Amino acid sequence: MKQKNNKKKRRLLVTGASGFLGWNICTIAHKSWDVFGVAFYNSIDIVGININVVDLTDYSGLKQLFVDVVPDAVVHAAAAANTSYCQVNQTESHKINVDTSINIAGLCMERSIPLVFVSTDMVFDGLAAPYKEDDPVCPINVYGEQKVLAENGMLKRCPEMVVCRTSIMFGYHPERSRSWFQKNVEAMRMHQDVQLFVDEYRTFLSVRDAASGILLALGNISGILHLSGDERVSRYDFARLASGIFHIDNARLIPCRVADVPVTAPRAKDLSLDNSQAKAFGFMPSSIVIELEALSGII
Ligand SMILES: NC(=O)c1ccc[n+]([C@@H]2O[C@H](COP(=O)([O-])OP(=O)(O)OC[C@H]3O[C@@H](n4cnc5c(N)ncnc54)[C@H](OP(=O)(O)O)[C@@H]3O)[C@@H](O)[C@H]2O)c1
Repeated sequence: MKQKNNKKKRRLLVTGASGFLGWNICTIAHKSWDVFGVAFYNSIDIVGININVVDLTDYSGLKQLFVDVVPDAVVHAAAAANTSYCQVNQTESHKINVDTSINIAGLCMERSIPLVFVSTDMVFDGLAAPYKEDDPVCPINVYGEQKVLAENGMLKRCPEMVVCRTSIMFGYHPERSRSWFQKNVEAMRMHQDVQLFVDEYRTFLSVRDAASGILLALGNISGILHLSGDERVSRYDFARLASGIFHIDNARLIPCRVADVPVTAPRAKDLSLDNSQAKAFGFMPSSIVIELEALSGII
């Protein structure tokens, strides 16, 4: 006889649910939480998830969202996450990246509910990697500066919360345009030229591992936590690995150097994160190869 589980699931509010990371958080969290996702311009259907369409930069709409959902915990993954956009649209991006984030911390503090804020390796300058949680921040572009302002403002408002700084993430999203990795694979398959830096290093992290790490941290620790993969790899080598695992024999990968390519927002060379604190806490990122092999079956 099957036992009926009548225990009511707790409510998790996930901002950025239509985005690359938020979608993955929603699909994983769904197993243990009653998930309420927030989208804005690109509303999305996710099986079993309640989607609310809200402009989070509108404080009255944000407050009403908390009244309507009555969350038991919040993951704030919404952002203007494109570095070039932030560099040229500083006022607009400041609203969602800084003001909204601090407002969310205030609302969580008032309700004494756990909160994770998703930050980035770009709070560092790339000159002293690998970075630990207590290394001094030193962003070199507007996006990184905004994340630092958000981290500081939020932790001041809500000291019990967690800031999860993640490395660059790769993985699947049902809308291909949300995932740089899926776009690269498509370009490789179509034998288009893909320019890749040989001198820019990251500790690439699977988006599913990032989502699991965020949910592991939620309500269980406070302060700052670095979530990254274990391997420090250049963007060029990452793509070579992917083209091999995806059996794209004649991918046109063009090696280039950061100094040779004009960019809108300054780029850091090595933003590798030290994830030992997260691993001591139970975070277990998979290897790039294992994760790419899993993705090769679905992308
Ligand atoms: N992707 C990475 O490799 C990476 C690495 C490190 C850190 N991060 C951080 O991880 C988080 C998620 O990034 P991502 O790659 O998933 O970004 P993304 O795919 O661009 O998604 C951004 C999300 O934010 C939402 N959003 C933006 N402005 C909003 C507003 N005014 N009101 C409501 N929602 C709004 C978007 O909703 P709509 O599209 O529906 O408008 C979307 O769901 C961000 O904080 C980013 O800084 C990402």
